[in-house]
Amino acid sequence: MSVHTENSHEVIDEDKRDFIYIATGTVVAAGAAGLAWPLVMQMGKAADTLAAGAIEIDLSKVVEGQQLKMLWRGAPVFVRHRTAAEIAEAESVDVSDLKDPQTDDERLVPNPAGKLEPQYLVMVGVCTHFGCIPVAEQNKVKPQGEFGGWYCPCHGSHYDTSGRIRKGPAPKNLKIPPYEYISDTVIKVG
Ligand code: FES
Repeated sequence: MSVHTENSHEVIDEDKRDFIYIATGTVVAAGAAGLAWPLVMQMGKAADTLAAGAIEIDLSKVVEGQQLKMLWRGAPVFVRHRTAAEIAEAESVDVSDLKDPQTDDERLVPNPAGKLEPQYLVMVGVCTHFGCIPVAEQNKVKPQGEFGGWYCPCHGSHYDTSGRIRKGPAPKNLKIPPYEYISDTVIKVG
């Protein structure tokens, strides 16, 4: 898949169907035949926000079961709209069994009303072992890993549907970037 950005001539080749890339400040057209990738437009942002390297993401544009991969300060950020089954799986885990114990709620950020939105999981998409980019399943088409979340093919780390390390050499859960809700559906990362 190739992703073309309007504000530059950048073309990102993407072998996998798991993600689309969205470059900051651009409208993205994804052209993979047979795929119904949505067009996703980032919300307008102030110059000082751009200067600080922050990105804004409209979560309402991410359909259930889909994951976006954004670029933030040179690193991928995964935005996953989890299904009810994925959330239930994440919440059912006994955290005392985890290498890096964290509840699913601890990996979420409250919206402006102070409520968690467990359907949206936002993480830095960098394996905590040696920094490869884990892959995810997409609409059950291509399951990755043994815990239904993400799998790092470099050395075989398995992350669950909350991005927590469950098996393999990675020492920590996938990191949650600093972010906040700036409206009911838009978050600012960075
Ligand atoms: S870099 Fe991911 S398992 Fe080694």
